[in-house]
Amino acid sequence: MILELAPDDLLATTRSVRKRLDYDRPVPRDVVESCAQLAFQAPNGSNQQNWGWVCVDDPALKVAMADLYRRGMRDHIDRDRTGESPYNPGGDARAQERMSESVMFLHDRMQDAPVLLVPTIEARLDGASTFTQASRWGSILPGVWNLMLALRSRGLGSAWTTVSLYREREMAELLGIPYDHNTQAGLFPIGYTIGTQFKRADRGRSHLRWNGW
Ligand SMILES: Cc1cc2nc3c(=O)[nH]c(=O)nc-3n(C[C@H](O)[C@H](O)[C@H](O)COP(=O)(O)O)c2cc1C
Repeated sequence: MILELAPDDLLATTRSVRKRLDYDRPVPRDVVESCAQLAFQAPNGSNQQNWGWVCVDDPALKVAMADLYRRGMRDHIDRDRTGESPYNPGGDARAQERMSESVMFLHDRMQDAPVLLVPTIEARLDGASTFTQASRWGSILPGVWNLMLALRSRGLGSAWTTVSLYREREMAELLGIPYDHNTQAGLFPIGYTIGTQFKRADRGRSHLRWNGW
């Protein structure tokens, strides 16, 4: 099923879906594979396609991945914040509260998402130059976003998550990802969405500038 969404609406309403993922409805592999084909259309440095797309639908593996996600969340909360700018959350207090509830909902249910995806970049980026970082991250993130758009257009959704990266090495061991040569881009739960209407985001003021900073 392809939703009838105008291109601008598709771009503006592809949200991080956590509470409205249907954790009980199975997702056929061929649906994920058709979205992955669109991910592979994304631009990537020198058209080298130095990426990996690890999809998991094995229940025991998903439980172990969700456990690492929760540990990563704990690491994130407990991290040393020395040198960080003060936290300046966007949106009003009610919106922040809703987001926290949603984050905790996914935290509790991650293992129940029908499919969990870990996209990877074929490189370690620790200590890399800005050029290398930009080139490598820019060679996976457009593909991930293509995949999220493709999911949305088929009535599915995902949520961009990164706290599992605090446990990147353990995730690599679990999934057999060669850690010394690959960097994980995050953990993406995939499922059908409950309903297909999503709102545009409120991003506050525009950050656009013309002719200089
Ligand atoms: C780089 C990045 C990392 C994120 N990490 C997490 C995460 O670890 N857990 C989570 O629940 N959401 C995570 N999010 C989702 C954001 O919280 C979400 O995109 C933001 O609240 C805006 O909501 P929207 O995507 O629905 O517009 C992440 C998003 C991005 C882009």
